[in-house]
Amino acid sequence: LNFKGYNFERSLVDVNLLENLDDFEVRDDDIFIVTYPKSGTIWTQQILSLICFEDHRYRTKHVDTMDRAPFLEYNIRSMDFLSRPSPRIFTTHMPYYLVPKGLKKTKAKIIYVYRNPKDVLNSFYHYSKMVIRLEAPEDPESYMKAFLDGEVVGSVWFDHIRGWYEHRHDFDILFMMYEEMKKDLRSSVCKISRFLEKELNEEDIDAVVQQATFKNMKSDPQANYQSILKNEIGIRGCDAQFLRKGTIGDWKNLLTMDQSERFDRIFQRKMKDIPLKFIWDI
Ligand code: A3P
Repeated sequence: LNFKGYNFERSLVDVNLLENLDDFEVRDDDIFIVTYPKSGTIWTQQILSLICFEDHRYRTKHVDTMDRAPFLEYNIRSMDFLSRPSPRIFTTHMPYYLVPKGLKKTKAKIIYVYRNPKDVLNSFYHYSKMVIRLEAPEDPESYMKAFLDGEVVGSVWFDHIRGWYEHRHDFDILFMMYEEMKKDLRSSVCKISRFLEKELNEEDIDAVVQQATFKNMKSDPQANYQSILKNEIGIRGCDAQFLRKGTIGDWKNLLTMDQSERFDRIFQRKMKDIPLKFIWDI
């Protein structure tokens, strides 16, 4: 579904909500996670909910990540957003121009997580093969074309990051890089909690870090989307997992040298005036 120039996953999106987003009431203490798909969304949902809620940090309350930090546009479990107690964490893949206007006027905070787009493409390729609702890619070459042309859910990666970067002064926003989170999770957790003005002691930080590692999330049914994947999203094959590899540079197993160089040329042209740092490799 293309709504105002952006591709949503048709069968999961709440069109009524999209049409009324301008009126969506944002609270000062709301927190939004914004990502292009496959950039570390589920990971950030886990980290944020562990930082914000002691119940989740110490596992005294059993709530799936998806319900702790629900998607605004994909309200899969028909949650009543208005009755949710503060602080509310929301997740969205939307471009800057579609999010509720109230986000500019309130003190609500945004964490924008980005990842090198070759790994995004690679992760998306494997995800699209696995998920019934998405068109299965034929081969890496045609998928790379579709990705670069924005013929995927999330539209053009370059437009998404540029839009949010260029409009960063309109919001209270922190840019986080997937690869830096991967290289130093503890520092990233500290950085996010400082930004949220939610200072944690050493023990709390340890608890967050421990439950946000790839290995622990992958084996944690609350954190790995397993039930959502199987019951609400729908997968091809039964051993599919949302947390696939979680590494930096796995794109090298998908793209040829020629494809990678073509990608680089487009990246250099399109991103030359955006000073964000990228890591492609370990
Ligand atoms: P891969 O397919 O490369 O493994 P999103 O949540 O935005 O859809 O992103 C999914 C990607 O983030 C997947 O990448 C997934 O494995 C990775 N991921 C999820 N949790 C992670 C974690 N704790 N550490 C590192 N990567 C993680």
